Amino acid sequence: MAGNSSLRAANKAKKDEFYTQLSDIENELNHYSEQLRGKVIFCNCDDPYESNFFRYFALNFNRLGLKKLIATCYDPSPIAYKQLSMFDDGQSIANKNRKAYKIEITEVPDLNNDGAVDLADVETLLKSKNNTLTLLEGNGDFRSEECVQLLKQADIVVTNPPFSLFREYVAQLVEYDKKFLIIGNQNAITYKDVFRLIKENKIWLGYGFRGNVGFFINTHYTDYAKSSQHKEGMIRVSGVMWFTNLDTTKRHEELISYKRYTPEEYPKYDNYDAIEVSKTIEIPADYDGVMGVPITFLDKYNPEQFEILGLAASAGYNAEIVGIPFLGNRDARAILFSKNVYARIFIRRKI
Ligand SMILES: C[S@@+](CC[C@H](N)C(=O)[O-])C[C@H]1O[C@@H](n2cnc3c(N)ncnc32)[C@H](O)[C@@H]1O
Repeated sequence: MAGNSSLRAANKAKKDEFYTQLSDIENELNHYSEQLRGKVIFCNCDDPYESNFFRYFALNFNRLGLKKLIATCYDPSPIAYKQLSMFDDGQSIANKNRKAYKIEITEVPDLNNDGAVDLADVETLLKSKNNTLTLLEGNGDFRSEECVQLLKQADIVVTNPPFSLFREYVAQLVEYDKKFLIIGNQNAITYKDVFRLIKENKIWLGYGFRGNVGFFINTHYTDYAKSSQHKEGMIRVSGVMWFTNLDTTKRHEELISYKRYTPEEYPKYDNYDAIEVSKTIEIPADYDGVMGVPITFLDKYNPEQFEILGLAASAGYNAEIVGIPFLGNRDARAILFSKNVYARIFIRRKI
């Protein structure tokens, strides 16, 4: 059985190996420039030679007015140094040592004097002997003592962390009271600990990917089905979102409702005193009671307009998570006309 479990662990680890495109990072990060000024940014799942997060912050270091950029990478990465190489240089420290290392940058000068800061300058910086790139003592696990010490220095953590460790990853950021902007899977919304933070308005969604679908760089998988949306060297991941506790303008925008409530169009669940609203845009403008909405509602959630009461996503009733009284006797998912519907967030209008 040990063999099976190590195989499972290896498969799980491989599933964590996909890399974010620079354009997706730019599209999201463009909204937060002001909040990044003067800050220490930490990318703690990012090999500086491979990560576009590192590349984005290094190239925009001066424009954003960053104080410091720190990146650490993880040694056991099963496919490290095979995916993206930002630089053509096969002789890099990383390639030779295959070890976990960190980079700390406090300035990005125009080292080649061509009048602009570009990738060549970043490469020169990486190769320079001023100790910006150093080996870590351990394996670069974000939970390791030395990485936690770096986390303590950081103001804002920005990355795409391993999805398989998302719960722990978020818990650590919260424990150290850090600001963050990270990519995660939509399913994470229904994890109890993550949902609790969402309900308490301690985490919300960023601007996100179109249709919540992301294309990530991965040349490793050859066995996934080629769909009409197939892009060479990429994997398509559905239900991807940015999770953050940095302010966004969109969470202050009012959701405009065009529909009026009628009991026929908005029936109540069999097991909750709440009406079913199957599409966020159909939230009735004039209903003051509890409404069950799909989890994608969070894309439009404005805490000044709505209050989140709870979540019905699993069969067992947990009063704290569901947030409203259970009127059924068995399945605690939202049940409508004797059939359970998808996960529902219970909300109520504030205004
Ligand atoms: C989804 S990939 C994203 C990589 C990079 N942040 C990007 O967006 O291009 C997640 C990365 O986390 C690394 N990783 C896995 N477990 C880790 C751990 N315990 N600590 C730090 N990094 C880890 C993986 O090796 C992988 O490179």
